[in-house]
Amino acid sequence: MTDWRSYDTIAEAYERVWAPRFETVGRKLMALAPPVEGARLLDLGTGTGAIALALGDKLKWLRAIVGCDLSFQMLIQARRRVPQLRLLAADAGRLPFRDASFDLATANCVLSHLTEYRQALSEVLRVLARPGAFAMSSWGPSSDPYAAAWSNLLEGAVGDGSVQRTVEQVAPSEGHFSSPENVRAALLEAGFSAARVEVIALSHDCSVEEYLADRELSSGGRFGHHVLGDAAWRGFLERAGAEFRQKFGDRISYERPLVLGLGTV
Ligand SMILES: C[S@@+](CC[C@H](N)C(=O)[O-])C[C@H]1O[C@@H](n2cnc3c(N)ncnc32)[C@H](O)[C@@H]1O
Repeated sequence: MTDWRSYDTIAEAYERVWAPRFETVGRKLMALAPPVEGARLLDLGTGTGAIALALGDKLKWLRAIVGCDLSFQMLIQARRRVPQLRLLAADAGRLPFRDASFDLATANCVLSHLTEYRQALSEVLRVLARPGAFAMSSWGPSSDPYAAAWSNLLEGAVGDGSVQRTVEQVAPSEGHFSSPENVRAALLEAGFSAARVEVIALSHDCSVEEYLADRELSSGGRFGHHVLGDAAWRGFLERAGAEFRQKFGDRISYERPLVLGLGTV
């Protein structure tokens, strides 16, 4: 059985439900660090190829674009969506490339998944040529009432405290990288000569069904589905939908901060 922690379990749904949002994030990141013509780009934790898709026409300018990810199923989706992207299954903390192989590296909502993020940053510095740049993004804290309501319902169904504890296994550094100060400090401590950090707000407006489809893919949703099993999970989603509509009406609208960081050498 596939490990619920892996993105392998949600690769198809990710493309349908999450990829458009991650492409929006990718466009913001590429506006912060636009690749110059002829650049070699490495995208860590490339997922289904959001960064390559966010580049649009600029993809043609690049000399090379390589994406690595631990999830084979995510890479299969990326291969289908962006045939030009060279793909390999590799851990961001042990990059199988020679020193100075790339001009630009990106990690779109990836470093939060790593306990050993320092090791990944040191690998990025090793594989970057000089001058070189690394652009990263991470979600800021969720402070909207919908996230709180979802967590309460899920904890109630699965067991008090177990969801939070367990999801921390999937994104152990999410809290750390939700702070712009920590992003800047991590880049400078890793050895980048300069670091620039921006916080922007991404807005979401969707139906209750779309919101729940989104939350199903989150690490908490994956864990809940794993623990409850298919039938009980469907029952949980129905109850959650009814409770959301009663509390909030049919539409969900909120903003979530996003931290963008750029390190240069
Ligand atoms: C939130 S998704 C982001 C995917 C993609 N960057 C995007 O913008 O859509 C996080 C990705 O990081 C990958 N990942 C997690 N840990 C990793 C690691 N140690 N090395 C490489 N990829 C990793 C996951 O498999 C997943 O595809």
